[in-house]
Amino acid sequence: MEISQHRNGIREIVRSWRAQGETVALVPTMGALHAGHMALVARAGELADRVVVWIFVNPAQFGDPADLAAYPRAPERDLAMLRAAGVDAAFMPEAGEIYPDGDETIVETTRLANILHGQVRPGHFRGVTTVVAKFFNIIRPDFAIFGEKDYQQLQVIRKMVRDLFMDVEIVSVETVRDDDGLALSSRNIRLSPQDRRAALVLFRALERAGEMACSGTTVEALRTALSAMIGAEPRARLRGIDIVRAETLAPLSGPLTGPAAVLLSAEFGGVLLIDQKVVSP
Ligand code: PAJ
Repeated sequence: MEISQHRNGIREIVRSWRAQGETVALVPTMGALHAGHMALVARAGELADRVVVWIFVNPAQFGDPADLAAYPRAPERDLAMLRAAGVDAAFMPEAGEIYPDGDETIVETTRLANILHGQVRPGHFRGVTTVVAKFFNIIRPDFAIFGEKDYQQLQVIRKMVRDLFMDVEIVSVETVRDDDGLALSSRNIRLSPQDRRAALVLFRALERAGEMACSGTTVEALRTALSAMIGAEPRARLRGIDIVRAETLAPLSGPLTGPAAVLLSAEFGGVLLIDQKVVSP
């Protein structure tokens, strides 16, 4: 596996593959890899001849410096996992390589970035689209793989690609969960055992949402039920329940008549977790 910390280094590596007519899939991550990330890597391997994994804890998408500092980092372990999975190259730049002195350009999906989770974390999605646009320009992948767990992020990236005519195919992968249902997240290792157990309320709430949608419900009744379930867990600090049109993330009300994305965010002992499910009547 090739490892590069420099834009030009990874560009050269990718260029040499392209010269041989090979296709390239990119998996952008912030490291502290788990089985969720590895499912994206596996999908990338099915799609393209070569797989590049990007590991970069992107400062631009963290509002709170303490959250950035506390973000888990495990580069050696990450590299061992990528090698074992047969990944062709890992790109692990320093912040100055991605945001050189004088850097001032941002990319923002002006509506989608500032609704829902974007209101809980102002500036977050602008930081994501800006860095992902940089990834795409550096690597020029044929495919880029993202998880459905970060549902709004996925829609924001699809929108950016469409609006800016970017020549890359966005491919999504279903949320990978622990045996008990908790969505895998790099942040989970920061949970105390009690908070880890309490966080299961998110999965249970989403399962309930699926059942309610199936048997016929209104958006309002669904919201009330989810709010009561999460509210009954004393360790959870609810940050958001959004029930939106699955494709556009437009607000919904009244009887649920088509596919809806249920997006939950809550803090457990100061660790912000998100989870989502698309439910249908
Ligand atoms: P990160 O949180 O490391 O996630 C990298 C990718 O893995 C994202 O596409 C995310 O949706 C996916 N992922 C995380 N947990 C998953 C799970 N349990 N099942 C399936 N996929 C999962 O998301 C980011 O990094 C950053 O915002 C990034 C896109 C890299 C930009 O900095």
